[in-house]
Amino acid sequence: KNELKISPSLLSANFANLKEDIEKINHSDADWLHIDIMDGVFVPNISFGFPVLKYVAELSEKPLDVHLMIVQPEKFIREVKELGTMMMNVHYEACTHLHRVVQQIKDAGMRAGVTLNPSTPVSMLTDIISDVDMVLLMSVNPGFGGQKFIPHTLTKVRELRELIDRSGSQALIEVDGGVNLETGSQLVEAGADVLVAGNAVFKAPDMVEMIRRLKELK
Ligand code: DX5
Ligand code: ZN
Repeated sequence: KNELKISPSLLSANFANLKEDIEKINHSDADWLHIDIMDGVFVPNISFGFPVLKYVAELSEKPLDVHLMIVQPEKFIREVKELGTMMMNVHYEACTHLHRVVQQIKDAGMRAGVTLNPSTPVSMLTDIISDVDMVLLMSVNPGFGGQKFIPHTLTKVRELRELIDRSGSQALIEVDGGVNLETGSQLVEAGADVLVAGNAVFKAPDMVEMIRRLKELK
């Protein structure tokens, strides 16, 4: 079994002092930094764009785990790559030609992740699972931090674990939305490899300590 990874979501950081928050993440046990890009079309909110993320990328010492909640994400592969991104996650629901987009991301030199909304079944990935480096399961409807975890996600993690093992794929399972110490421990038990945490980390009295505790979940 893979070692549990923690990917704090910058969406819950203090946008007036991103530098301080990024430096705290740099000095923590976090494995990656999760970046949520929204377009106000695919999701009912807008977060930050490339001019801001350029500075975020320069400050972060953690590999970037970029989650695009936008329509036609293939239009921005070059911009995402220029940030120095390690993992580019696109939504299944936003890609008509998902197989092509996954190949384009890999050709650009990044790892490719495919994201599923809460209502999209894991079985939609049957014919792409061997091509992806990660599957990101949304455990809230994307668009906002601080929402409540949807418990059915635990069933989806187990189904995805089965699909991955059956196909011989090496894909990691990441879960995003409402993750805290309690839901996180249930997710690890179900078979998750990577936990995204926004509010649980950035609204904690001691971020570094919270990341350490999430990292130790079994
Ligand atoms: C939601 C984003 C998440 C969000 C998670 O659309 O994809 O990454 O920041 O925030 P929490 O952990 O507070 O639910
Ligand atoms: Zn996200």
